[in-house]
Amino acid sequence: MQRILVRRSGPLSGSVVVPGAKNSVLKLIAATLMADGVYEFSNVPGISDVDTMVDLLEALGVRSERVGGGRMRLANSGDLTPIAPYELVEQIRASIVVLGPLLARCGYAKVSLPGGDDFGSRPIDMHIKGLEAMGATFEFRHGYLEARAEPLHGADITLSFPSVGATENIVMAAVLAKGTTVLDNAAREPEIQDLCELLNDMGADIVNVGTSTLTIHGVAADSLHAADHVVVTDRIQAATYMAAVGVCGGEIEVVGARPEHMAMVIDRMAAMGMTIVDRPGGLFVAAPERLRSVDVATLPYPGVATDYKPLLVTMLSVADDVGIVTENLYPGRFRYVEELRRLGADIRNDGHHAVVRGRPGLSGAPVRAPDIRAGAALVIAGLVADGETSISEIAHIDRGYEDLDGRLRRLGADIERAD
Ligand code: UD1
Repeated sequence: MQRILVRRSGPLSGSVVVPGAKNSVLKLIAATLMADGVYEFSNVPGISDVDTMVDLLEALGVRSERVGGGRMRLANSGDLTPIAPYELVEQIRASIVVLGPLLARCGYAKVSLPGGDDFGSRPIDMHIKGLEAMGATFEFRHGYLEARAEPLHGADITLSFPSVGATENIVMAAVLAKGTTVLDNAAREPEIQDLCELLNDMGADIVNVGTSTLTIHGVAADSLHAADHVVVTDRIQAATYMAAVGVCGGEIEVVGARPEHMAMVIDRMAAMGMTIVDRPGGLFVAAPERLRSVDVATLPYPGVATDYKPLLVTMLSVADDVGIVTENLYPGRFRYVEELRRLGADIRNDGHHAVVRGRPGLSGAPVRAPDIRAGAALVIAGLVADGETSISEIAHIDRGYEDLDGRLRRLGADIERAD
């Protein structure tokens, strides 16, 4: 079992290249189920969730190979087995996005129900309701959801909440449905826009991409074809390196960061006293001697993403004064606070809210990574803690971060991986 060992570090300097977004590439991979041919994706992050998703696609009938330089080729011969087995689905919740493509392409899908995450239950009722409105029927037996549709038809659907996964499943199903689907209150995350751009390049007809009302004109299966795509940069990984500078001090270039996708988190970090300036191809980021506390509330895009929150709570733990953090997406997503407290952070949480009283520094201790983002946040906390912080269960971090420790080390952080 590997651990990441971190010691107090800073100031950081240099530049860091941010890879493609996990939350985009997993859905792009699922989209290859929809049309035969060979796809080439570039800017694919080297993370274990991609390996798991590729294994799942292999089981469904899509072959793939990494061809170096962050590129991946996927080949769909049309010979699909629309059954997503428990062993693979349970490892990666995003695998539920094979449901829409399989149903649209094969008229049938049998998908194991994904489990919850460490930060709480994650239902899929909105996915099911949307697909039902398009003519699908569902049966739940022995832990599997069996879906049938012959054929899917367009529908007017309004989501009760702008769910990322439900938007993606409904959009992919609607691409091959008969007629037009209007999806209102759709999620607008940049990763959804990335998926819609690939689908349109494949021959789909999705209008108003990037807005909360998507119109999808269904097309015939034989008019869809494979396409190449560059995965959008990961805004959460970009924010992770910004948070590292925030707590350690210094100045870095975050290469590939897309400020237009990060407006609200940039606003919060700037309010904490950081200097964040657009540069061609990325961002220049510098930190003051000590951060100022601010209040933060998570919201669907373009609000502050819930995935940034563990990073922001870590920054507030060492900022001057008191910050109030409100979680509006996952009520259970404060569990990692226990681990931050082990490092001396002064955080009180109750339901959706946490009160964070900043301290000048933290104190190193053994902690465990409870999930991807919280794991990264504990690494960042270790950078501002006296002594050594040893983070275990780092497989969670490797699910979503490509060489987080190596990238931080090259920025000057005192960090290593140990067996
Ligand atoms: C995606 C991201 C995840 C991010 C989340 C919110 C991926 C792989 N994961 O997850 O990193 O934290 O968006 O930005 O892209 N909900 C329901 N019923 C449903 C669907 C969702 O009640 O049918 C609820 C969820 O429990 C949650 C909220 O809606 O409280 C948002 O979930 P959703 O946007 O669907 O998140 P994911 O797509 O699972």
